[in-house]
Amino acid sequence: MPEWTAPVVSEMLGDRIARFRAGDVVPFPGYVEPPRATGPLPPHWSASPRFARVGSCGVARLWLEPDIDLYGTGMVAGPLRRNGTSIRLDNFDAWGYAAASRKLYQSHPWVLGVRRDGSAFGMLFETTRRATISLRRSVTCIAMGPAPAVVVIERAHPMEVVEALATLTGCAPMPPRWALGYHQCRYSYMTAERVLEVGREFRARRIPCDGLWMDIDHMSGFRCFTFDHERFPDPRGLHHALHEMGFHAVTMVDPGIKVDHRYGVYRSGRAGGHFLRTPHEPPGEVHVRVWPGQCALPDFLNSRVREWWSEQCRELTSVGADGVWNDMNEPAAFDAGPRKTISDDIPHRADADLGGPGDHGRYHNVYGMQMARATSEGLARLRPNRRVFVLTRANFLGGQRYAACWTGDNTSNWSHLAMSIPMVLNLGLSGQPMVGPDIGGFSENATPELFARWMGIGALLPFARGHSEKDTKDHEPWSFGAACEATCRRALERRMRLLPYLYGVARESAMTGRPIARPVFMADSTDASLRGIEDAFLLGGDLLVRANVSEPSANGQGSMPEHGRPVPVLASWRDLRLESEDDEVLPRLAIRPGAIVPIAPIMQHTGEHPVKPLTLLVNLDARHEARGSYYEDDGETLDFRQGQYRLTTFEAAGDERGGVVVRIESVEGTWPPHAHLIQVDCVNPGTRSVRVETIDVSGQRPRAS
Ligand code: NOJ
Repeated sequence: MPEWTAPVVSEMLGDRIARFRAGDVVPFPGYVEPPRATGPLPPHWSASPRFARVGSCGVARLWLEPDIDLYGTGMVAGPLRRNGTSIRLDNFDAWGYAAASRKLYQSHPWVLGVRRDGSAFGMLFETTRRATISLRRSVTCIAMGPAPAVVVIERAHPMEVVEALATLTGCAPMPPRWALGYHQCRYSYMTAERVLEVGREFRARRIPCDGLWMDIDHMSGFRCFTFDHERFPDPRGLHHALHEMGFHAVTMVDPGIKVDHRYGVYRSGRAGGHFLRTPHEPPGEVHVRVWPGQCALPDFLNSRVREWWSEQCRELTSVGADGVWNDMNEPAAFDAGPRKTISDDIPHRADADLGGPGDHGRYHNVYGMQMARATSEGLARLRPNRRVFVLTRANFLGGQRYAACWTGDNTSNWSHLAMSIPMVLNLGLSGQPMVGPDIGGFSENATPELFARWMGIGALLPFARGHSEKDTKDHEPWSFGAACEATCRRALERRMRLLPYLYGVARESAMTGRPIARPVFMADSTDASLRGIEDAFLLGGDLLVRANVSEPSANGQGSMPEHGRPVPVLASWRDLRLESEDDEVLPRLAIRPGAIVPIAPIMQHTGEHPVKPLTLLVNLDARHEARGSYYEDDGETLDFRQGQYRLTTFEAAGDERGGVVVRIESVEGTWPPHAHLIQVDCVNPGTRSVRVETIDVSGQRPRAS
């Protein structure tokens, strides 16, 4: 039996955040520590971890009060509410994962608990080691190494806990605006001509799209940072042509660098001593088999290596690549047995502030995050004053500072469609707001019904990208017939219409750490009936999305699938229709009472700016009032940090004639106003005559039309 000891050290880190540790704790690279403070524990605080050592494992355990709903733990398959589950923190190439899979591509040693009364707490286990977190009557973290220190955050509302997590682990940066558009990918578009053809098809069919992605086959023999001479003969010309059509392009790199003495990246990595080396004497390079055959792996834990990698990114930025996709960075190895990765005894020359030299067992779970960091720092350095966009497969708590992520190699089936919502929500509750699934499913072939439904939902998740595996049928929006194409078009037009709102939510997230997509219980944390809802979610604070994720029954063929089920407690939220034609396949939207949501006309991509006209959707509350804001900046530089943005806050009030008066309450920032017109659309049916006010933002004064 383990001997459970009282915490050796309990430190207050600030208001209602405390760290407990058992003594022999490793430094934790996931976050920047806040300034330390001391003080007594809050008197009502029952959370107090216990520590033990069991064999070579260190254990931290917190006994829970009854009736606590548990969430978080990052990238997890299965239900939103995590009670009764356990998860392995062991970054893993999880191709073919299912609801029961216990380990996926990322590790987030973080649990959010919501009490019956709506108050909440968070538990962060400070370990980068492989670990198991089990969520039962106690929350127990068993780490393969020293017992993790535990940081406990106590707050009145779960959103405040998530915000406090962001004070420890950082916020995702403000994305470039194009990253919020729709992205189209496949493994792989095999030639430059095919990439252009897909782009032309989007424009010809008037289906909105912002990003076209190049998976590994653009490379010459899977050599990272190269383009195949025959199939992609003119990368610069390709990127230029894509930009001319209003697309942005994202290119893949993997950590595995082909062992090939004629290949410049391998040669310079070897000459600089940047690759991992075996622990045995005499040490040699670690070689693993990945796509190109035998590969060497950079030691991303080391700052010199990250700088070298950053410099390699020049090969991509110099031809005009807009973003970089980091794949296989668990790191995955094909010839390494069931764990599919390198062995734990391989040494890393980790920087002192990451914990200093240590073996792979200690750093496995942060390897992918440090690769994403190297890529993100490279893009930032190579293109000063441009916002960075990196997508990573492997990551760790805090990695949202470097990259967005997707939910890995899912499958084209209804269970994966359903799972994609709680996966995105739990990642958001674990600090990663910019996330989405492969829309349509990666492995296997989607059906038209599944694809259309998935596009409807995926278009409302923070990161929206369609992707599919080699040898599957085409999975572009037009690949499944006219009806499916029409639904996809409407779904993506919706995303474009919501862009002004979505961009504002992304900014809110970048400033506060609040997720972009949020569980419904965030609207009322005291209502226990909302805690398990996973077929509906909030997009920001003002929109509710109700999805139907169930497979249409066989006899339902030809009949319209139902919208998502009602969320009774949010009944006061008003149904919102953005389309003139109803599309029964798309999720249903509702707007919060008291909200003003800015929306755009239909655009084909996010670069169609400025928005003209901007429509303010107003939903007056019971007091006949509403409030909301519209955030603008140039969409791609960092000038907003110097105040080059414009945040216009609006107030609306119902007037005595049954109309609505909208006033500009405040304008913040120095971004020059576009002299665009704003129209007001009041969604309250009680409004007898909706009087549309036209407002000249440049004059800052409302003007009746
Ligand atoms: C695995 C990734 O998860 C997938 O998205 C990608 O298409 C393949 N690797 C090929 O690069």
